[in-house]
Amino acid sequence: MMVQRAIQVYATLDDLVLAGVALWREMSRAAVAAHGCFRVALAGGSTPKRLYAALAKEHGIPWESTWVFWGDERYVPPDHPDSNAGMAQAALLNHVPIPKKQIFPWPTHSGDPWLDAAAYAATLRHVFGDSPTWDLLLLGMGDDGHTASLFPGTAAVQVQNTWTTVGEKGGDPRLTLTFAALNAARCAVIWVAGSGKAKRVQEVLSQAVGLPIQGIKPQGSLIWMLDGEAAAALPWV
Ligand code: 6PG
Repeated sequence: MMVQRAIQVYATLDDLVLAGVALWREMSRAAVAAHGCFRVALAGGSTPKRLYAALAKEHGIPWESTWVFWGDERYVPPDHPDSNAGMAQAALLNHVPIPKKQIFPWPTHSGDPWLDAAAYAATLRHVFGDSPTWDLLLLGMGDDGHTASLFPGTAAVQVQNTWTTVGEKGGDPRLTLTFAALNAARCAVIWVAGSGKAKRVQEVLSQAVGLPIQGIKPQGSLIWMLDGEAAAALPWV
């Protein structure tokens, strides 16, 4: 497996989405050919929505062999407007023939986020065995440099001995993969768009500032996929 570290910049969000669809198609077909399935962990937030909606219209993607997970989840029911699973269901999963038994949203119903985080870790161990080797891990980045629900200065960033933990944002619990699970990925894509992220992108790509996004060091490839606005502060763009 060729391991790469790359920064890809696309002039517009439309171009970024087209590139994301092409990458997903290529990677899913290669994974299914290599080991019979394509296991992807989705990002939440708003940026990936356009990508998910474009994928929903694509043909020639092995949806029947696709297994879907999430990198993190807000501690809300799936029908809540803030739900990452709800967003992906509406934008993509309700429109493609992925068997329901291959879609693994985080549980958020026990009332105890720690219990639900542990349950998700058990699910991952059941599916992956010793290491959650995502074929594709899709991540976003907040303008504070967080990723998944690993926020700067929170205890979740330090957790290494489990695959899942409970993070927090503004006092609200968040369920999240830890770096131990995130960095098991065969390929991680950090998907960033919009001028609001430009300064942070420039900072985290040019100096070690100890922000969570800089903890994404997968055993496999790491590809930053940026639109022109998010890349605008990079000196060489
Ligand atoms: C979440 C995401 C989070 C997201 C960033 C960027 O649950 O919100 O997993 O890590 O990727 O916050 O979010 P936007 O795409 O909305 O800017």
